[in-house]
Order: sequence, then C-alpha cells, then structure tokens
Amino acid sequence: MSLRSIPVDRLTYEEAQTELANLAKELAEHDIAYYQNDAPLLADWEYDDLKRRNEAIELRFPDLVLENGPSFKVGAAAAEGFSKVELKVPMLSLSNIFTEEDILDFIDRIRRFLNLSPQDELVFAAEPKIDGLSFSARYEHGRFVQGSTRGDGSIGEDITANLRTIADLPEQLVGADIPDVIEIRGEVYMRKSDFYALNQIQEQEGRRPFANPRNAAAGSLRQLDPKITARRKLSLFAYTYGEVSHIAWSTQWEFLNLIKSWGIPVSPEIALCANDIDLVRYYINMGQKRADLDYDIDGVVYKVNRMDYQKRLGFITRSPRWAIAHKFPAQQAQTRIKKIRIQVGRTGVLTPVADLEPVNVGGVMVSHATLHNMDEIERKDIREGDTVVVQRAGDVIPQVVQVLLDKRPLHSFAFQFPTRCPECGSLVAREEDEAAHYCTGGLFCPRQVVERLKHFVSRDAMDIEGLGKKNIEAFFEWGWLRSPVDIFHLQERHQEDLLKTEGWGEKSVSNLFEAIQKVQTKTGFDKFIFALGIRQIGQSTARLLAEQYGTPQNLIEAAHQETALEDLTHIDGIGKSTAADIIDFFKEPHNREVVDALVQLIHIEPYQTNKQQTPLTGKTVVFTGTLETMTRPEAKSLAVAAGAKVSGSVSGKTDYVILGKEAGSKALQAQKLGIRILDEKDFRKMLEII
Ligand code: IVH
Repeated sequence: MSLRSIPVDRLTYEEAQTELANLAKELAEHDIAYYQNDAPLLADWEYDDLKRRNEAIELRFPDLVLENGPSFKVGAAAAEGFSKVELKVPMLSLSNIFTEEDILDFIDRIRRFLNLSPQDELVFAAEPKIDGLSFSARYEHGRFVQGSTRGDGSIGEDITANLRTIADLPEQLVGADIPDVIEIRGEVYMRKSDFYALNQIQEQEGRRPFANPRNAAAGSLRQLDPKITARRKLSLFAYTYGEVSHIAWSTQWEFLNLIKSWGIPVSPEIALCANDIDLVRYYINMGQKRADLDYDIDGVVYKVNRMDYQKRLGFITRSPRWAIAHKFPAQQAQTRIKKIRIQVGRTGVLTPVADLEPVNVGGVMVSHATLHNMDEIERKDIREGDTVVVQRAGDVIPQVVQVLLDKRPLHSFAFQFPTRCPECGSLVAREEDEAAHYCTGGLFCPRQVVERLKHFVSRDAMDIEGLGKKNIEAFFEWGWLRSPVDIFHLQERHQEDLLKTEGWGEKSVSNLFEAIQKVQTKTGFDKFIFALGIRQIGQSTARLLAEQYGTPQNLIEAAHQETALEDLTHIDGIGKSTAADIIDFFKEPHNREVVDALVQLIHIEPYQTNKQQTPLTGKTVVFTGTLETMTRPEAKSLAVAAGAKVSGSVSGKTDYVILGKEAGSKALQAQKLGIRILDEKDFRKMLEII
C-alpha cells in the first residue's frame, strides 16, 4: 500500500513526516508547472486534493509543519480562470443584529424614517438566512443566460456553466408576469444529507472530507471545470432580485410566491410577521428548528414587505435599510493555547495570535485564534497553557471568548508584550489612545515591506498574475524589490538574472512581464487606491474615494487641502480617523514619492461608476425647515443616493439650500451668500421622483 492511499487519520507520525516532505516536493513542482510554465501537469481538482491532504496532515501533526512548506505558498488560484461579470445592480450584504432589543430598534428606525404613525401597519417578510454562497442568475425572455457569484459586489465571477449543472435552477421560466429581463438572486448551498454523502465518498477515496456544508458548496461551485460541479449535488433558494425590466409585484411576499410559480425554489420556511412579537417568535422557532433542517442556517432575515417602503428606505453604503439579519449565537468549543505569537502586519501593527491545540468548532477545525491586542489579553487574562473557550461565527477569524481559570496550570505567567519587533528588532511603540502596538521599523522592517508588496500585487489590489506571495518573498530576499515601484523596473533590471534562475524559463519569464505590463496599461483607480495599503482603507472605502475624486491627482490634492479632514469626512462611510490616516499617508514624503512614481508608470483609469449622474451629483446641499412629503433622514438619504454631500451648515461651499416650512437662519444666510435656494418641489424634480 502506498503512503498516498493511507487516510490521514491512520498515518503514523513517521509516515506523516515522509508524506509531508513528498507533498512539499510535488506541490512545488506543480506550482512551477502551473504558475510559471502555464502547463499544469494535474487537473485543478487533483492539485486541490494534494493541497487538502497536506493541510489535513498539518492539522493532525502541527509540529511537523514545514517552514516554507506548501501551506505558506500561493493557493491554486482557481478563481483566476473565471471571466468577470459586471453587476449593474450591486449584490449587497446585510447588517446584523443579535438581540430582541435590536429588533425594536430596527422597527423604530424604519417607522421614524417613513414617518409612520403607530396605527400604520408595518409588515415584514421573515426568511431563514441560508449559510451558503450568494448567486445571481440572469434570465432574458425567461431563459437562463448568465450566472454570477457576488465577487466584490459590483464585479462577480462568471459561473454560468456551473449554475446550469444545479438541477434546482430552471433553464426556462414558465408562468405569468415573467419580465423580459430579471436577475434572480439567492443562495447556493449543499444539503446536510448531500454533504454527508459527499464526505463519505471523499473518505472512501482517501480524500480529505470537507469541513462543513458551506465549504463543500463553495469548493464545488467555484470549480473551473463545471463537470466537477455537476458531480456534487448542490441546491439553491432564491430570495431577491437584481436588474429587472418590469416589477410586477408590490410586496416581498408576492415576489417570492411569483418566482416560486415560475419554478424557482423558495425556502418553505418564510413567514409574514406583523410586529416585533411575531418576529421574536419566528426567530425562536427557527432557532429550535435549526438542527432539524436539512441545510445550515446562521440566522434569520427580516425584510420590510412593501416594495414602495423598500424603495423609500433605500440603502446605507453596503446594505439595505429595509432588511436586517438576526444572527444565531456563534458556535463555541474548548481547547488549550500552546503558544502566543506576534504577527507583523503590513502597516506595522503587531497582532498577538494564539496557536491552539486543533479543535472542531461547529464543524470546522480551528488551530489559531486572534487575540487582537494587549488590552484584550489583559482584559481576559489570557496566558500560554490556558484552556479557553473559542468561538467562530461565519467566516470571521476564530476568537478566544474566555479563559477557564480552574484549568489554568500551576506555574503560568501573564503574557508580556515584546518590547522589540520579532521580525526586525526595532522598538515596539503604542500610541496613547490606541490599543495596538506597532513596530517602529517602518520600511526598515523587512516583514512590513514584504507584506506591503504582497498586498500591492494581490488579487483585489493590482492583481498581478504570476507575482504571487512566493515570488515576492524571493525577489525581496534577492534585493530586487524594495518598493512597489521596483516591480515596474524588474524587466529592465533583472530579466537576465531571472532567466538564469532555477525554475524560471523563457515562457514563465515572459508571462510574468506580460502580466506586469498588463496592469501598467490599465488599472482601475479604486484598485490602485486599495493597493497603496493606506491604513483603514479597505476595498469599499477605496471605491468611495475613487468615486469621489476620479483621478489620483484629485485625491492627492484633496488630501493636502487645509480643509481635507472636513472634506473627506463629508463622504458617507468615511469617519474622522480614516480621514486622518489618508491625510497622514499622503503627507509622508516617501509615500508621495512612491505614489508619484507609480502614477507616472501606470495608466490609471478614472473610476467608472455604475451610478447615474443626477443634477445633484457632487453638489453640497443643506436642508432647513420641515419637509412635507418626506422625513429629514429620508431626504438626506435620497440626496446622498443622488450623489450629493449633505452638510449641516451653510458656507461658501454650499451649492443648494433646500427649504422646508418654518426654515430658520440658514435661509437668510444662503440669501446673503447668493446660494441657490430650492423648495421641496424643486428638490423632488431634481431627484426625478415627482
Ligand atoms: S437578502 C439586498 N435574504 O446573507 C439584500 N440574504 O449576510 C441582499 N443570505 O449577502 C440579501 N439568506 O448572501 C437575503 N433570506 C436571505 C438570505 C440572505 C442568506 C446571505 C446573502 C447576503 C448575506 C448577508
């Protein structure tokens, strides 16, 4: 019997050691074949199986993990192969609530926003929150034409062929009132029964079982080869829609029943709820049913039933105001902390991480947990050797909830935060009002530099194919890369060296330089901002900045204005501390040098927004007095949705003052400054909602 066919749980320690070494060697060869020679020797699923086996062995024998082994290298990057789908109506997410009190707040907020009187009815459609992956299925004239994942919300991956293999999804809709175009959206999931059956096959075939149904569904749906998807049994439920040519329903309830009549699966657990008591009852009831359902749910979702109300309520940044997810509590387990180690991030933040005895938490093996920062460690008095309760909720990094003091070993010591960076030896500092410790090494700290470079080239940032983590580490070590600018000089400076390097051939070298040139000829402004790695600037904030400023020059200029802090915080979604980080970043001469050089080297595309231009786009408006047809929050949200900035006071920068009844001094001031005054009717006209 060859080593490879022995299931992981039956390997001896010595066998595991040999097998890990074999896997490391084989995977390294396949990496070169796949990433550098463009000539894979294995099918993706075969490669994935090797990777999974490697991970499973590492999980069972954590002390055998090889430094520089396969788990430290770039993944199979299967996603690279999907083409992109533009989602004209973005796929959003939901805000979460956790308590019954939060339900009351949610209802109150909506009632206030819509200015409903206590007698006015406010009905909700309640649905289970399916723990799967969201999809969008586009139908034209009733025929399924395109499928997409959520991706970043605006650009998804094309999974048309994969969705087609799911028996639940009709190829052709039949029935009444089918719009010419409709994107049906919902969740792809794997039934628990199908998950157990799949895992049995996996084990019979000596493959690692999937950790939970969600992972199995994700691994099955996002396969480059749809034949694999077809072999895995996936299911789906629909719950909303994206682009639609004609809306033939006036409530969520009608929508769900209508699509059901067309042949689309809708959860049988949906219910109408007239008030908070009904919602609480629904939550409790679904919580009790949870274990008996044949699919995983991680909470319930409440949606305002009336479509006209939904439309008025609109959205806050990434989620609708008219819906909310009420999550079930996180799943927990007990385990022991083997060691507390310090991880250095790209911005120098030092994060303590607990290495745990691997433990199964709600179906997932967990071997690390973040301890966040020293305050958290002190507050919970977390020590090496402690037995702790860990929890995971959804896809978040596992956390330590509590120490079980009665299980604390006799000789344990409070954790001491190191005074020097474990990577570069620089002094560790901590700002007075901040929880995090920092490595003061800045660009002297090799770990920070490497992490920044990795971030710069990563998929959601510049997305330079072929310049994965492994290559960044190597090029850095050889002194070829110190700043992102060096990436664009690699060809002129190091082409010859690279050709002489083991593992690199003509083809792989030219592929790499082509990939670099590709991003040089065209990179979206939002991706560029995200790639810079400014503290607190994630993808969605990068998009907000790109949308607001359009070009790098505008952004740099804005960050240098005296009023920068105020201007930046006017953008919905950017707070004071984020704004300060943006300003600080551009103030730092080294960053400016890098940005200026990059701007010269890369063609940065002005941000293309999906949003329509309105007469209010980019304007600053001030409201005063009471409006008749809408509440103040509603008016503000409409103005923001139309692209305006809403300010509380009239100044030289105000474009319009919108005047309601009993307006105060702001109207006078506007007159004095010669600012255009609009009444409610003008405002509605500008919004084209009259
Ligand atoms: S509605 C604009 N309904 O949960 C409204 N989402 O945490 C979009 N989900 O992105 C979502 N079950 O992937 C909705 N009954 C349900 C859902 C549901 C699961 C997922 C969905 C969403 C995520 C938010």
